[in-house]
Amino acid sequence: MKRRSLVLVIVAIIGLVALGGGLVNLVKQQGTVTSRRAQTSRQDLVSSTSKKTKSSQAEIAGQPIKAPQLGKSAAAWQNGAGTVSDGHDTNQINQPTRQLTKSAKSIIIYYSRSGSTELLASKIAQQTKADILEIVVKTPYAANYSATLARANSERAAQDYPALDLVIPDLAQYRTVYLGYPIWAMTLSHPMTAFLEKAGGQLDQKKIAPFMTQGGYGEGDSVQQIRQILTRVGGQNNRFTRALVVDGNKVDRADQQVARWLQQVDQTN
Ligand SMILES: Cc1cc2nc3c(=O)[nH]c(=O)nc-3n(C[C@H](O)[C@H](O)[C@H](O)COP(=O)(O)O)c2cc1C
Repeated sequence: MKRRSLVLVIVAIIGLVALGGGLVNLVKQQGTVTSRRAQTSRQDLVSSTSKKTKSSQAEIAGQPIKAPQLGKSAAAWQNGAGTVSDGHDTNQINQPTRQLTKSAKSIIIYYSRSGSTELLASKIAQQTKADILEIVVKTPYAANYSATLARANSERAAQDYPALDLVIPDLAQYRTVYLGYPIWAMTLSHPMTAFLEKAGGQLDQKKIAPFMTQGGYGEGDSVQQIRQILTRVGGQNNRFTRALVVDGNKVDRADQQVARWLQQVDQTN
């Protein structure tokens, strides 16, 4: 009897140990499943967040646009004064935008130091499917605003505009040319001046649609400057549309303004 009880006790202990082990394993597995689930849902969150960021991020010809003025309040923006760039006109991780096809009848040609005009160009591109050509200079303007201002002032005083780092394509196929630039000192920014001096002769007979971003002081004499340069270099028979003028810190909210302007551009003979 005693022996049998002893055997029963031993069997019971073994059973309990086995059951305990199973429970421990079960708990462990559950823990793993739970933490995997937690991990998966965190990963989902991260990837859906990054997808969200990506899809809401502005792009031009598949490359991201950085525009530090966007969303700044009037007080923080200070009419664009102090705006930094990454010192690479317009983004050091991008190749200069160059989207050229054989069939397009319109082209967007733009310069942008700190990204706002590039964003405006991208909005026009989205709504027109025009080709795109970014103007790039051999020595980009400084990231620092004051240094850029000093260089721009001395270039203007000497009328010595920057050398372009750009192979200018044959523009014969285009009927409409959207010309985009930031306003500097109430006039054209110099890379656009340099481009027009060099390629303006190719713009003869074309519809010119100027668009620009600025610090709140308006288009200045920039359109007049375009007309004068074109007349001088041989592009004399142009039709000009009304200019599109957008504050540099509000380009992300300009979709409707762009749509209305594009209708007017279409209606300009
Ligand atoms: C050198 C320089 C001069 C500027 N001069 C003017 C100006 O006279 N009037 C104005 O409204 N904004 C002026 N701005 C502000 C820019 O036009 C504005 O920030 C623009 O959105 C910049 O465009 P981006 O980001 O495409 O370079 C100036 C900016 C710079 C860098």
